[in-house]
Amino acid sequence: MAEDSFSATIITSNLETRFIGQRVIYHPQLTSTMDVARQEARQGAAGGTVIMAGEQTAGKGRLKRVWLSPRGSVALSIVLYPEMSYLPYLIMLASLAVVHSIKVVTGLEAQIKWPNDILINGKKVCGILIESDVQGSQVAYAIIGIGINVNFRLSDFPEIRSTATSLADEVARDVSRIAIIQCLLREIERLYLVLPEGEHIYWEWRDRLATLGRKVQVVSGKTTLEGTAESVARDGSLLLRHSNGSSTKIVAGDVRLRVRNHVA
Ligand code: BTN
Repeated sequence: MAEDSFSATIITSNLETRFIGQRVIYHPQLTSTMDVARQEARQGAAGGTVIMAGEQTAGKGRLKRVWLSPRGSVALSIVLYPEMSYLPYLIMLASLAVVHSIKVVTGLEAQIKWPNDILINGKKVCGILIESDVQGSQVAYAIIGIGINVNFRLSDFPEIRSTATSLADEVARDVSRIAIIQCLLREIERLYLVLPEGEHIYWEWRDRLATLGRKVQVVSGKTTLEGTAESVARDGSLLLRHSNGSSTKIVAGDVRLRVRNHVA
């Protein structure tokens, strides 16, 4: 299907989900899909509402970073109203769904790098941002934001070229964003609906983390810690084992995987 026919209706038709993506708001250009999703959530938008942008002019990454999403990207946010106990699982199910969709549509094997990066051959192809509004013991709303580098060439973006890749660069052809998005929304819904049935999402996420067992540097705020990424807890935190035997629980940070004497 031609990429110029990208629209909300095309995503929704034949999607056959129960709620995720049954309402899609598409803008060819937006500042950030997170901003629109937040407004929608505050106005009580239906759970599963998806905000999509053809390109973002002020895309948001983790830790208040800028997220580059030029034309050819997938940039979307999903509005959800999960139970409090499900919040830590959103990053896990979103990561698993991205890896699945990339595999189904392109055949490529992607890896998950703690906490929220999806890599292909060591380079970042997707970032995931979870935003939530918790009031007391209730989740007012949660938003899963997903940005995938699909049909643009990193040679046009020298500022991220050494650390990022795109699906089109990896397979040397354009990839259907429609197929990626539909597969992603179906898989997110499937995983979301089985959350009450147990912990297999945690175990699957844990098994797919490229980080575990590796020597890593973790940059958390102004602190850089070194050690072996030993395990992850059900709340999504990382346990770092230091060479002196002590350990640190890391809730947020950036992991650099050590490759021999280098870091990546
Ligand atoms: C990260 O790796 O730092 C997270 C990047 C998340 C980017 C996505 S693109 C869709 C949604 N809208 C945004 O502004 N950010 C998220």
